Amino acid sequence: MRHRGIHLSGKKAVITGASSGIGRELALALAQRGATLALAARRKDLLDDLADEISGMGVPRPAVLPVDLAIPGSAAELGRRAMDALGTVDIVVNNAGANLTGAQPLVADSAAARAVFEVNVWSPLALTSALLPAMRAANSGVIVNVTSTVQAVPLPLLGYYSASKAALAQATKSLRLELTGTGIRVLEVVPGATDTALRDVDELPWKSTPPPTLPPVAPASTATAIVRGLERGARRVVHPRYSLLPLEVPVLGRMLATVGGRRVDTRGALAGPIR
Ligand SMILES: NC(=O)c1ccc[n+]([C@@H]2O[C@H](COP(=O)([O-])OP(=O)(O)OC[C@H]3O[C@@H](n4cnc5c(N)ncnc54)[C@H](OP(=O)(O)O)[C@@H]3O)[C@@H](O)[C@H]2O)c1
Repeated sequence: MRHRGIHLSGKKAVITGASSGIGRELALALAQRGATLALAARRKDLLDDLADEISGMGVPRPAVLPVDLAIPGSAAELGRRAMDALGTVDIVVNNAGANLTGAQPLVADSAAARAVFEVNVWSPLALTSALLPAMRAANSGVIVNVTSTVQAVPLPLLGYYSASKAALAQATKSLRLELTGTGIRVLEVVPGATDTALRDVDELPWKSTPPPTLPPVAPASTATAIVRGLERGARRVVHPRYSLLPLEVPVLGRMLATVGGRRVDTRGALAGPIR
């Protein structure tokens, strides 16, 4: 089934990671289009502020659903809470993301490493699974998974983050095939460098200066690109557009990682005690 775009007015959407960055901007953009929202993240004060700002726009006040998605089981519970709050969910945006910078021999499968996968992989899968029965019953809905260009640029010390995003990207493509022939659309959002707290490469211990890159884009521009993708029936939104290169030409992504990786102080990072 070929998916058509949707009119966002009146649609019910749950957004994880809505307290800051891309999620916050997307909440504002969807509210401007007349969608009714449920906002999820850990920082309830920021979600409350955002809900106030949105209700000041003359649209229904979003439901505020504080949650720590690093806790196993919390995403499925969030799905139930979102259904209770909204009655139904037309769009789920799995946007919350956790980063971890560290050398694998030191971090291994520690609780911090597992939490990255809990937030970035297991929670999106669990939240989607909790909301899919209602979407199946309605034979409509959009599942939006936010991955990253690092799925194709495996920089040193970012292995946990990039592996989790690559896992979510593959799961997203598989889910799309599983739902072929239904009215449910699966949209992968692939941000490139975006000016938020989670800009991954900022966390790396560079030997001197980081490799020169184009400036990060504003999260509001990413939100605009996602809204356009939702409205036009897109299956993938890559923003900024030049981030398509490492995705479509994987050898380029590996080259970027090799060249950039030489500037990362891996020796210093490995100098700590090995557990
Ligand atoms: N910025 C970039 O350059 C870039 C590039 C590629 C992909 N991305 C992806 O874009 C998405 C949005 O990130 P962002 O750039 O907008 O950064 P951000 O401003 O730091 O937003 C991350 C969001 O995730 C939430 N979050 C983190 N851990 C959580 C947890 N344990 N439970 C619940 N919520 C949690 C945070 O809320 P609380 O802290 O309030 O819980 C926050 O709202 C992420 O999936 C990220 O991986 C970003």
